[in-house]
Amino acid sequence: MEGAVVTGYDVLAEVYEWLISDAKLTPAEFVAAFADVTCDLPPHAQVLDCSCGTGQLAVGLAGLGMRVVATDASAAMVRRTEVLAEESGASVSTVRAEWGELADHFEDATFDMVFCVGNSLHHAKGSRGRGAALESMSRLLRRGGRLVLTSRNWELVRSRGSRLDIGDRMVRRHGRDGLVIYRWEIAAQWEQEHRIEIAVGQVEEDGSVLVRSELLSCWPYRYGELESELLSAGLRVDKSTYDPEAEGYVVVASKE
Ligand SMILES: C[S@@+](CC[C@H](N)C(=O)[O-])C[C@H]1O[C@@H](n2cnc3c(N)ncnc32)[C@H](O)[C@@H]1O
Repeated sequence: MEGAVVTGYDVLAEVYEWLISDAKLTPAEFVAAFADVTCDLPPHAQVLDCSCGTGQLAVGLAGLGMRVVATDASAAMVRRTEVLAEESGASVSTVRAEWGELADHFEDATFDMVFCVGNSLHHAKGSRGRGAALESMSRLLRRGGRLVLTSRNWELVRSRGSRLDIGDRMVRRHGRDGLVIYRWEIAAQWEQEHRIEIAVGQVEEDGSVLVRSELLSCWPYRYGELESELLSAGLRVDKSTYDPEAEGYVVVASKE
């Protein structure tokens, strides 16, 4: 399918909290990072997190009284979202669906806000795949509804070339220390498939090290390309924090 993810997250789902920053670990902390957009939503707004990962944002949105649907391409990620919602006593509907499959599950113009956050969109295959994914998200928004997207600054990432990023400290989660390593495979051309290998080495109680890793494919984009692809999908950029020197940015775009 156009835009489909070609590699998993089913393994990383088991250790995903080692990849989330300390400041965004809980649903309340995660959703607080988006307070400037959620504050304008009507009570009981209908919202979709279409790459929900382990569910912190979806559960946080439910905690604000919103009607929340959480979807993701990875069955293991969807399951983690369900478990977090159960543990938190939050009402979150879940569906395993890639962006290209969303129209099979929801009517057009269903949502007041769609979130695609945490470096997810680069998994859509190239410009065509990205365009198709943004089109799927756009169709689900009511007129005036907003897409909230966060992204790495790929201009910066590409300028550094292929490399290894080894965490400079252990990350402690659930009483266990873990070391996180990112291996970046940067292709010669922007349009080519790039890869990120993510490994989490966890120190077990008996001192042994349990490593879980996954090789993820991604297709980077320049900020300018993203802006024009949003426009082609019927989404007008209202707000952007893009800064050539900053590692990441948030874009908020309205359905025309
Ligand atoms: C880096 S994680 C971000 C998860 C979460 N949004 C966060 O901020 O922690 C990227 C997520 O995008 C999902 N994903 C990748 N390709 C997708 C696709 N084609 N359709 C829907 N979700 C996809 C992955 O399964 C993964 O959960």
